[in-house]
Amino acid sequence: MNVRFEPAATGLKGTLVAPPDKSISHRAALLGAMASEPVRVRNYLVAEDTTSSLNAVRALGALVEERGGELVIRGAGLREARVPEGVIDVGNAGTLMRLLPGWLASQAGRSYTLDGDASIRRRPVDRIAVPLRLMGGEIEATEGRFPPFTVHGARLHGIEYELPVASAQIKSCVMLAALAADGATTIVEPAPSRDHTERMLAAAGVPVSREGARVSVGNADELELDEIVVPGDLSSAAFAIAAGVLVPHSRLLVANVGVNWTRIGFLRILERMGAIVVGDLEDVPADGSAVATSEPITELDVAHGPLVGTVVEADEVPLAIDELPLVALLGCFAEGETVVKGAQELRVKESDRIAGVVDGLRGLGADIEATEDGFAVRGTGGLRGGTIESLGDHRLAMIGAVAGLASREGVEVIGMEAAAVSYPGFRDDLAALA
Ligand code: S3P
Repeated sequence: MNVRFEPAATGLKGTLVAPPDKSISHRAALLGAMASEPVRVRNYLVAEDTTSSLNAVRALGALVEERGGELVIRGAGLREARVPEGVIDVGNAGTLMRLLPGWLASQAGRSYTLDGDASIRRRPVDRIAVPLRLMGGEIEATEGRFPPFTVHGARLHGIEYELPVASAQIKSCVMLAALAADGATTIVEPAPSRDHTERMLAAAGVPVSREGARVSVGNADELELDEIVVPGDLSSAAFAIAAGVLVPHSRLLVANVGVNWTRIGFLRILERMGAIVVGDLEDVPADGSAVATSEPITELDVAHGPLVGTVVEADEVPLAIDELPLVALLGCFAEGETVVKGAQELRVKESDRIAGVVDGLRGLGADIEATEDGFAVRGTGGLRGGTIESLGDHRLAMIGAVAGLASREGVEVIGMEAAAVSYPGFRDDLAALA
Protein backbone atom coordinates (compact mmCIF):
# COMPACT_ATOMS: atom_id res chain seq x y z
CA MET A 1 0.00 0.00 0.00
CA ASN A 2 1.41 3.39 -1.06
CA VAL A 3 0.47 6.42 1.00
CA ARG A 4 1.35 10.08 0.52
CA PHE A 5 2.15 12.35 3.44
CA GLU A 6 1.88 16.06 2.65
CA PRO A 7 3.75 18.84 4.48
CA ALA A 8 1.89 19.73 7.70
CA ALA A 9 1.60 23.46 7.06
CA THR A 10 -0.01 24.45 10.36
CA GLY A 11 2.03 22.15 12.62
CA LEU A 12 1.02 19.20 14.81
CA LYS A 13 -1.25 19.98 17.74
CA GLY A 14 -3.10 18.03 20.42
CA THR A 15 -2.58 15.03 22.66
CA LEU A 16 -1.37 11.58 21.68
CA VAL A 17 -1.88 8.70 24.05
CA ALA A 18 1.22 6.59 23.39
CA PRO A 19 0.22 3.15 22.05
CA PRO A 20 1.01 0.18 24.32
CA ASP A 21 4.63 -0.94 24.55
CA LYS A 22 5.56 -3.74 22.16
CA SER A 23 8.52 -5.10 24.16
CA ILE A 24 6.51 -5.25 27.36
CA SER A 25 3.45 -6.76 25.63
CA HIS A 26 5.56 -9.62 24.22
CA ARG A 27 6.95 -10.28 27.68
CA ALA A 28 3.48 -10.14 29.24
CA ALA A 29 2.23 -12.81 26.82
CA LEU A 30 5.19 -15.09 27.53
CA LEU A 31 5.26 -14.68 31.31
CA GLY A 32 1.48 -15.06 31.41
CA ALA A 33 1.86 -18.37 29.59
CA MET A 34 4.65 -19.48 31.95
CA ALA A 35 2.53 -18.74 35.05
CA SER A 36 0.20 -21.33 36.59
CA GLU A 37 -2.36 -18.82 37.93
CA PRO A 38 -4.34 -16.46 35.68
CA VAL A 39 -2.58 -13.20 34.81
CA ARG A 40 -4.56 -10.09 33.85
CA VAL A 41 -2.85 -7.84 31.31
CA ARG A 42 -4.02 -4.26 30.96
CA ASN A 43 -3.25 -2.19 27.85
CA TYR A 44 -1.80 -5.10 25.82
CA LEU A 45 -0.69 -3.92 22.36
CA VAL A 46 -3.03 -5.06 19.59
CA ALA A 47 -0.69 -5.22 16.59
CA GLU A 48 0.65 -7.90 14.24
CA ASP A 49 3.80 -8.63 16.26
CA THR A 50 2.09 -9.02 19.59
CA THR A 51 -0.76 -11.02 18.06
CA SER A 52 1.94 -13.47 16.94
CA SER A 53 2.93 -13.79 20.60
CA LEU A 54 -0.64 -14.53 21.70
CA ASN A 55 -1.02 -17.11 18.95
CA ALA A 56 2.27 -18.73 19.96
CA VAL A 57 1.33 -19.05 23.63
CA ARG A 58 -2.09 -20.40 22.67
CA ALA A 59 -0.37 -23.08 20.57
CA LEU A 60 1.73 -23.94 23.63
CA GLY A 61 -1.32 -24.52 25.81
CA ALA A 62 -2.20 -21.13 27.30
CA LEU A 63 -5.77 -19.83 27.21
CA VAL A 64 -6.11 -16.18 26.30
CA GLU A 65 -9.41 -14.38 26.75
CA GLU A 66 -10.35 -10.76 26.29
CA ARG A 67 -12.49 -9.43 29.12
CA GLY A 68 -13.67 -5.87 29.42
CA GLY A 69 -10.76 -4.46 27.45
CA GLU A 70 -8.10 -6.46 29.24
CA LEU A 71 -6.55 -9.85 28.59
CA VAL A 72 -6.68 -12.78 30.95
CA ILE A 73 -3.96 -15.33 30.26
CA ARG A 74 -4.31 -18.75 31.86
CA GLY A 75 -0.86 -20.16 31.53
CA ALA A 76 0.50 -23.58 30.79
CA GLY A 77 2.97 -23.40 33.72
CA LEU A 78 6.72 -23.04 33.82
CA ARG A 79 7.48 -26.66 32.96
CA GLU A 80 4.36 -27.58 30.96
CA ALA A 81 4.55 -26.00 27.51
CA ARG A 82 2.50 -28.24 25.22
CA VAL A 83 4.02 -29.45 21.95
CA PRO A 84 1.94 -27.73 19.24
CA GLU A 85 0.88 -29.30 16.00
CA GLY A 86 3.19 -27.92 13.34
CA VAL A 87 5.58 -25.00 13.58
CA ILE A 88 5.23 -21.95 15.80
CA ASP A 89 4.83 -18.98 13.45
CA VAL A 90 6.50 -15.88 14.91
CA GLY A 91 5.49 -13.74 11.90
CA ASN A 92 7.78 -10.68 11.82
CA ALA A 93 8.48 -10.68 15.57
CA GLY A 94 12.19 -10.90 16.40
CA THR A 95 11.51 -10.45 20.11
CA LEU A 96 9.17 -13.45 20.16
CA MET A 97 11.64 -15.52 18.14
CA ARG A 98 14.50 -14.75 20.53
CA LEU A 99 12.68 -14.87 23.89
CA LEU A 100 10.37 -17.84 23.51
CA PRO A 101 13.19 -20.41 23.01
CA GLY A 102 14.41 -19.55 26.53
CA TRP A 103 11.25 -21.08 27.93
CA LEU A 104 11.08 -23.93 25.42
CA ALA A 105 14.70 -25.02 25.98
CA SER A 106 13.75 -25.98 29.55
CA GLN A 107 10.91 -28.34 28.50
CA ALA A 108 12.78 -31.61 28.92
CA GLY A 109 12.03 -34.24 26.30
CA ARG A 110 9.93 -31.96 24.02
CA SER A 111 10.84 -30.28 20.73
CA TYR A 112 9.45 -27.14 19.10
CA THR A 113 10.08 -25.63 15.66
CA LEU A 114 9.89 -21.88 15.08
CA ASP A 115 9.62 -20.07 11.75
CA GLY A 116 8.45 -16.69 10.50
CA ASP A 117 8.24 -14.36 7.51
CA ALA A 118 10.95 -13.56 4.95
CA SER A 119 12.50 -10.89 7.21
CA ILE A 120 12.64 -13.28 10.19
CA ARG A 121 14.41 -15.88 8.04
CA ARG A 122 17.29 -13.42 7.58
CA ARG A 123 17.72 -12.73 11.31
CA PRO A 124 20.36 -14.66 13.27
CA VAL A 125 19.41 -17.04 16.07
CA ASP A 126 22.93 -18.32 16.82
CA ARG A 127 23.11 -15.50 19.36
CA ILE A 128 20.55 -17.36 21.51
CA ALA A 129 21.58 -20.88 20.49
CA VAL A 130 25.08 -20.41 21.95
CA PRO A 131 24.03 -19.67 25.56
CA LEU A 132 21.11 -22.13 25.47
CA ARG A 133 23.52 -24.90 24.43
CA LEU A 134 25.86 -23.94 27.27
CA MET A 135 22.89 -24.43 29.61
CA GLY A 136 22.25 -27.92 28.22
CA GLY A 137 19.60 -27.22 25.57
CA GLU A 138 19.86 -28.23 21.96
CA ILE A 139 19.07 -26.05 18.94
CA GLU A 140 19.21 -26.96 15.26
CA ALA A 141 19.06 -23.95 12.96
CA THR A 142 19.06 -23.49 9.19
CA GLU A 143 22.68 -23.01 8.04
CA GLY A 144 23.53 -23.13 11.74
CA ARG A 145 22.10 -19.68 12.43
CA PHE A 146 18.76 -18.85 10.82
CA PRO A 147 15.06 -19.80 11.13
CA PRO A 148 13.37 -22.15 10.75
CA PHE A 149 14.97 -23.73 13.81
CA THR A 150 14.12 -26.43 16.32
CA VAL A 151 14.57 -26.23 20.06
CA HIS A 152 14.97 -29.57 21.86
CA GLY A 153 14.14 -29.05 25.52
CA ALA A 154 16.36 -30.49 28.22
CA ARG A 155 17.09 -30.22 31.89
CA LEU A 156 19.10 -27.00 32.02
CA HIS A 157 21.76 -25.78 34.41
CA GLY A 158 22.69 -22.22 35.35
CA ILE A 159 25.66 -20.53 33.65
CA GLU A 160 27.64 -17.36 33.75
CA TYR A 161 27.41 -15.80 30.31
CA GLU A 162 29.07 -12.74 28.89
CA LEU A 163 26.90 -11.29 26.12
CA PRO A 164 28.85 -10.71 22.91
CA VAL A 165 26.50 -7.81 22.03
CA ALA A 166 24.35 -5.59 24.23
CA SER A 167 20.99 -7.17 23.42
CA ALA A 168 17.94 -7.30 25.65
CA GLN A 169 16.61 -10.12 23.52
CA ILE A 170 19.54 -12.44 24.20
CA LYS A 171 19.65 -11.40 27.86
CA SER A 172 15.93 -12.09 28.25
CA CYS A 173 16.15 -15.45 26.51
CA VAL A 174 18.82 -16.59 28.95
CA MET A 175 16.83 -15.23 31.90
CA LEU A 176 13.72 -17.18 30.88
CA ALA A 177 15.80 -20.35 30.52
CA ALA A 178 17.30 -19.71 33.96
CA LEU A 179 13.88 -19.98 35.63
CA ALA A 180 13.75 -23.74 35.27
CA ALA A 181 17.51 -24.41 35.41
CA ASP A 182 19.44 -25.98 38.25
CA GLY A 183 21.44 -23.30 40.05
CA ALA A 184 21.59 -19.56 39.40
CA THR A 185 22.48 -17.84 36.12
CA THR A 186 24.51 -14.68 35.71
CA ILE A 187 24.58 -12.57 32.56
CA VAL A 188 27.22 -9.91 31.98
CA GLU A 189 26.20 -7.08 29.68
CA PRO A 190 28.76 -5.08 27.66
CA ALA A 191 26.44 -2.07 28.06
CA PRO A 192 23.00 -1.70 29.68
CA SER A 193 20.04 -2.74 27.52
CA ARG A 194 16.30 -2.54 28.25
CA ASP A 195 15.48 -4.23 31.54
CA HIS A 196 11.76 -5.00 31.26
CA THR A 197 12.28 -8.73 31.77
CA GLU A 198 14.27 -8.14 34.96
CA ARG A 199 11.50 -5.91 36.32
CA MET A 200 8.70 -8.33 35.47
CA LEU A 201 10.51 -11.33 36.89
CA ALA A 202 11.33 -9.44 40.09
CA ALA A 203 7.63 -8.47 40.33
CA ALA A 204 6.76 -12.17 39.90
CA GLY A 205 8.79 -13.13 42.96
CA VAL A 206 11.83 -14.50 41.10
CA PRO A 207 15.19 -13.73 42.72
CA VAL A 208 16.76 -11.19 40.35
CA SER A 209 19.68 -8.98 41.31
CA ARG A 210 22.06 -6.64 39.58
CA GLU A 211 25.58 -5.65 40.41
CA GLY A 212 26.98 -3.24 37.86
CA ALA A 213 26.95 -5.04 34.51
CA ARG A 214 26.05 -8.42 36.07
CA VAL A 215 22.42 -9.58 36.28
CA SER A 216 21.72 -12.76 38.25
CA VAL A 217 18.52 -14.81 38.08
CA GLY A 218 17.66 -17.70 40.37
CA ASN A 219 15.28 -20.51 39.49
CA ALA A 220 11.63 -20.51 40.45
CA ASP A 221 8.84 -22.98 41.13
CA GLU A 222 6.30 -20.65 39.66
CA LEU A 223 5.69 -17.06 38.63
CA GLU A 224 3.48 -15.04 40.98
CA LEU A 225 1.94 -12.42 38.74
CA ASP A 226 -1.62 -11.18 39.18
CA GLU A 227 -1.60 -8.26 36.87
CA ILE A 228 0.68 -6.63 34.32
CA VAL A 229 0.03 -3.05 33.26
CA VAL A 230 1.65 -2.21 29.93
CA PRO A 231 2.81 1.41 29.67
CA GLY A 232 2.84 3.41 26.43
CA ASP A 233 5.67 2.74 23.98
CA LEU A 234 8.28 5.47 23.67
CA SER A 235 9.58 3.81 20.50
CA SER A 236 6.16 4.26 18.85
CA ALA A 237 5.58 7.71 20.34
CA ALA A 238 9.02 8.73 19.04
CA PHE A 239 7.56 9.25 15.54
CA ALA A 240 5.05 11.85 16.74
CA ILE A 241 7.70 13.39 19.00
CA ALA A 242 10.07 13.75 16.04
CA ALA A 243 7.27 15.21 13.91
CA GLY A 244 6.45 17.71 16.67
CA VAL A 245 10.09 18.76 16.91
CA LEU A 246 10.55 19.06 13.13
CA VAL A 247 7.34 20.65 11.89
CA PRO A 248 7.08 24.43 12.50
CA HIS A 249 4.23 25.64 14.76
CA SER A 250 3.88 22.22 16.45
CA ARG A 251 3.05 21.75 20.12
CA LEU A 252 1.84 18.41 21.41
CA LEU A 253 1.46 16.30 24.50
CA VAL A 254 2.33 12.61 24.58
CA ALA A 255 0.49 10.95 27.45
CA ASN A 256 1.12 7.67 29.31
CA VAL A 257 4.53 7.09 27.81
CA GLY A 258 6.97 4.65 29.45
CA VAL A 259 10.23 6.27 30.50
CA ASN A 260 12.20 3.33 31.89
CA TRP A 261 15.76 4.71 31.88
CA THR A 262 16.90 1.86 29.63
CA ARG A 263 14.56 3.13 26.91
CA ILE A 264 15.01 6.91 26.92
CA GLY A 265 18.28 7.27 25.04
CA PHE A 266 16.34 8.99 22.24
CA LEU A 267 15.11 11.70 24.62
CA ARG A 268 18.69 12.32 25.78
CA ILE A 269 19.85 12.61 22.17
CA LEU A 270 16.98 15.01 21.39
CA GLU A 271 17.94 17.10 24.40
CA ARG A 272 21.53 17.41 23.12
CA MET A 273 20.21 18.40 19.72
CA GLY A 274 18.39 21.27 21.40
CA ALA A 275 14.85 19.91 21.01
CA ILE A 276 12.11 21.08 23.36
CA VAL A 277 10.74 17.93 25.02
CA VAL A 278 9.79 18.26 28.67
CA GLY A 279 8.67 15.50 31.06
CA ASP A 280 9.46 13.80 34.33
CA LEU A 281 12.11 11.21 33.48
CA GLU A 282 12.64 9.92 36.98
CA ASP A 283 13.33 6.19 37.30
CA VAL A 284 15.48 3.94 39.49
CA PRO A 285 19.09 5.11 39.54
CA ALA A 286 21.08 3.77 36.61
CA ASP A 287 23.81 2.30 38.79
CA GLY A 288 21.62 0.93 41.60
CA SER A 289 21.78 -2.74 42.53
CA ALA A 290 18.04 -2.97 43.28
CA VAL A 291 15.87 -4.24 40.43
CA ALA A 292 12.69 -2.20 40.07
CA THR A 293 9.38 -4.03 39.84
CA SER A 294 7.41 -1.45 37.88
CA GLU A 295 7.68 0.77 34.83
CA PRO A 296 7.59 4.58 35.21
CA ILE A 297 5.34 6.64 32.92
CA THR A 298 5.12 10.34 32.19
CA GLU A 299 3.55 12.95 29.91
CA LEU A 300 5.88 14.66 27.46
CA ASP A 301 5.38 18.22 26.24
CA VAL A 302 6.89 18.60 22.76
CA ALA A 303 7.39 21.78 20.73
CA HIS A 304 9.04 22.68 17.45
CA GLY A 305 12.45 24.30 17.63
CA PRO A 306 15.80 24.49 15.84
CA LEU A 307 18.23 21.55 16.14
CA VAL A 308 22.00 21.13 16.20
CA GLY A 309 23.88 18.01 15.15
CA THR A 310 25.22 15.52 17.70
CA VAL A 311 27.39 12.42 17.96
CA VAL A 312 25.83 9.22 19.32
CA GLU A 313 28.52 6.94 20.75
CA ALA A 314 28.38 3.14 21.08
CA ASP A 315 27.44 3.04 24.78
CA GLU A 316 24.27 5.03 24.07
CA VAL A 317 23.18 2.79 21.21
CA PRO A 318 21.29 0.04 23.13
CA LEU A 319 19.26 2.69 24.98
CA ALA A 320 18.00 4.18 21.69
CA ILE A 321 18.43 1.27 19.27
CA ASP A 322 15.00 1.42 17.62
CA GLU A 323 15.00 5.23 17.43
CA LEU A 324 18.39 5.65 15.72
CA PRO A 325 16.88 5.78 12.20
CA LEU A 326 14.79 8.73 13.45
CA VAL A 327 18.00 10.41 14.63
CA ALA A 328 19.12 10.29 10.99
CA LEU A 329 15.93 12.08 9.95
CA LEU A 330 16.39 14.71 12.67
CA GLY A 331 19.98 15.16 11.53
CA CYS A 332 18.76 16.25 8.07
CA PHE A 333 17.12 19.28 9.70
CA ALA A 334 19.89 20.06 12.23
CA GLU A 335 22.70 22.54 11.89
CA GLY A 336 26.02 20.75 11.36
CA GLU A 337 26.72 17.02 11.34
CA THR A 338 24.92 14.18 13.14
CA VAL A 339 26.86 10.93 13.50
CA VAL A 340 25.81 7.54 14.92
CA LYS A 341 28.62 5.11 15.81
CA GLY A 342 28.75 1.56 17.15
CA ALA A 343 25.29 0.67 15.83
CA GLN A 344 26.12 -2.33 13.62
CA GLU A 345 23.17 -4.14 15.28
CA LEU A 346 20.93 -2.00 13.06
CA ARG A 347 22.00 -4.20 10.15
CA VAL A 348 20.19 -7.24 11.61
CA LYS A 349 16.85 -5.66 12.53
CA GLU A 350 13.57 -6.12 10.59
CA SER A 351 15.63 -4.82 7.64
CA ASP A 352 19.21 -3.60 7.31
CA ARG A 353 18.25 -0.31 8.90
CA ILE A 354 21.56 1.39 8.07
CA ALA A 355 21.14 0.75 4.36
CA GLY A 356 17.36 1.33 4.47
CA VAL A 357 17.50 4.70 6.20
CA VAL A 358 20.52 5.97 4.25
CA ASP A 359 19.11 5.02 0.83
CA GLY A 360 15.62 6.10 1.85
CA LEU A 361 16.55 9.55 3.14
CA ARG A 362 19.00 10.18 0.32
CA GLY A 363 16.12 9.62 -2.08
CA LEU A 364 14.28 12.43 -0.29
CA GLY A 365 17.20 14.83 -0.70
CA ALA A 366 19.33 14.11 2.40
CA ASP A 367 23.10 14.46 2.50
CA ILE A 368 23.78 11.19 4.34
CA GLU A 369 26.39 8.44 4.21
CA ALA A 370 26.42 4.93 5.62
CA THR A 371 29.37 3.68 7.65
CA GLU A 372 30.06 0.10 8.75
CA ASP A 373 28.43 0.72 12.12
CA GLY A 374 26.12 3.68 11.61
CA PHE A 375 25.76 6.80 9.50
CA ALA A 376 26.73 10.45 9.16
CA VAL A 377 24.25 13.15 8.09
CA ARG A 378 25.03 16.73 7.14
CA GLY A 379 22.09 18.93 7.96
CA THR A 380 20.78 20.90 5.01
CA GLY A 381 17.98 22.72 6.80
CA GLY A 382 15.26 20.37 5.59
CA LEU A 383 14.24 17.70 3.10
CA ARG A 384 12.83 18.04 -0.38
CA GLY A 385 10.59 14.94 -0.33
CA GLY A 386 9.91 12.23 -2.88
CA THR A 387 9.37 8.48 -2.54
CA ILE A 388 10.67 6.07 0.10
CA GLU A 389 10.38 2.28 0.44
CA SER A 390 9.51 0.70 3.78
CA LEU A 391 11.29 -2.53 2.78
CA GLY A 392 8.56 -4.20 4.86
CA ASP A 393 10.06 -2.60 7.98
CA HIS A 394 7.48 -0.90 10.22
CA ARG A 395 9.90 1.69 11.54
CA LEU A 396 11.12 2.74 8.09
CA ALA A 397 7.50 3.14 6.94
CA MET A 398 6.75 5.48 9.85
CA ILE A 399 9.95 7.48 9.30
CA GLY A 400 8.83 8.05 5.72
CA ALA A 401 5.52 9.43 7.01
CA VAL A 402 7.21 11.84 9.45
CA ALA A 403 9.64 12.90 6.72
CA GLY A 404 6.63 13.72 4.56
CA LEU A 405 5.02 15.99 7.17
CA ALA A 406 8.31 17.84 7.68
CA SER A 407 9.36 17.98 4.00
CA ARG A 408 8.89 20.74 1.43
CA GLU A 409 7.11 18.63 -1.21
CA GLY A 410 5.64 15.62 0.64
CA VAL A 411 6.64 11.95 0.68
CA GLU A 412 5.04 8.84 -0.76
CA VAL A 413 5.71 5.75 1.35
CA ILE A 414 5.73 2.48 -0.57
CA GLY A 415 4.62 -0.35 1.71
CA MET A 416 2.98 1.72 4.46
CA GLU A 417 1.07 -1.37 5.68
CA ALA A 418 4.26 -2.46 7.48
CA ALA A 419 3.40 0.00 10.30
CA ALA A 420 0.76 -2.47 11.54
CA VAL A 421 3.55 -4.65 12.95
CA SER A 422 3.89 -2.33 15.96
CA TYR A 423 1.46 0.58 15.50
CA PRO A 424 -1.76 -0.12 13.55
CA GLY A 425 -3.29 3.23 14.56
CA PHE A 426 -0.30 5.26 13.37
CA ARG A 427 -1.90 7.01 10.39
CA ASP A 428 -5.05 7.89 12.31
CA ASP A 429 -3.02 9.23 15.25
CA LEU A 430 -0.84 11.31 12.95
CA ALA A 431 -3.86 12.63 11.06
CA ALA A 432 -5.52 13.65 14.33
CA LEU A 433 -2.41 15.68 15.29
CA ALA A 434 -1.82 17.19 11.85
C1 S3P B 1 13.86 -5.65 22.05
C2 S3P B 1 15.21 -5.43 22.07
C3 S3P B 1 15.94 -4.79 20.98
C4 S3P B 1 15.01 -4.01 20.06
C5 S3P B 1 13.77 -4.76 19.71
C6 S3P B 1 13.01 -5.17 20.95
C7 S3P B 1 13.24 -6.35 23.17
O1 S3P B 1 16.61 -5.79 20.26
O2 S3P B 1 15.68 -3.63 18.88
O3 S3P B 1 12.93 -3.98 18.89
O4 S3P B 1 12.01 -6.31 23.31
O5 S3P B 1 13.96 -6.97 23.95
P1 S3P B 1 18.07 -6.30 20.73
O6 S3P B 1 18.00 -6.50 22.18
O7 S3P B 1 18.36 -7.57 20.03
O8 S3P B 1 18.98 -5.19 20.33
